[in-house]
Amino acid sequence: MGLEPRCYALVPAAGVGARSGADRPKQYVNLAGRAMMAHTLDALAAVPGLDATLVVLSPEDDQFEAAVPGFAGERAWVARCGGATRAESVANGLIELLARGAQPHDWVLVHDAARCLLRPEWVSRLIAACADDEVGGLLALPVADTLKDATAAGRVAATVDRRGKWAAQTPQMFRLGLLKPALAAGTEGVTDEASAIEALGHQPLLVESPMENFKVTWPADFALAERLLNSR
Ligand code: CTP
Ligand code: MG
Repeated sequence: MGLEPRCYALVPAAGVGARSGADRPKQYVNLAGRAMMAHTLDALAAVPGLDATLVVLSPEDDQFEAAVPGFAGERAWVARCGGATRAESVANGLIELLARGAQPHDWVLVHDAARCLLRPEWVSRLIAACADDEVGGLLALPVADTLKDATAAGRVAATVDRRGKWAAQTPQMFRLGLLKPALAAGTEGVTDEASAIEALGHQPLLVESPMENFKVTWPADFALAERLLNSR
């Protein structure tokens, strides 16, 4: 074939944000004047070398177009094909990418809608690090805190050696032709793409990324994300 692979971003945004305590799916909470997801999609739109971005919404979503009016144009794709889990939403999004002409050797960068502090340069670093890689990789942060295993009663059962431990972030970048069968092999307990790839025996590349690329998850995370957005 000899064709240069294309790069697509796939943004799963079909979750309800149960842990966030918000009155709506967290990706639609207003932060610094705009829906959280608008910040996420702006960062991706500023990444050189991304051919298109596909947003995966819940089939019931009736908020996206009003909340993110700036997401438009030939390279801005939306599909209401979200599933019951994040992994299902991503798997359904891959089928949509294929239907829109993506090829198995193309790269897919899966990025959580809820990581709204993303900077284009971090994505570029991931793309540069993985472009010639056999497997692909992910942004991640070496764990700084001492890790504890907890009992059901909230007491320390054991201390876990943090050396060599990383916290996985997104984007996670893999070839469509590898990621699709990896997710099809079973999504039970799969909370990121890398773990599905690992289950096939591969070793994704860890590309260091700052703590600022955190995922808005808990109620207090909204205020922190907003302060950071306002300070830019
Ligand atoms: N996501 C998705 N489809 C699902 C579940 C999650 O597309 N069935 C998306 C979310 O919208 C989010 C990303 O996956 O952008 C990361 O998931 P998470 O932070 O867990 O979001 P939620 O599942 O919405 O939050 P919670 O787990 O607290 O309910
Ligand atoms: Mg979730």
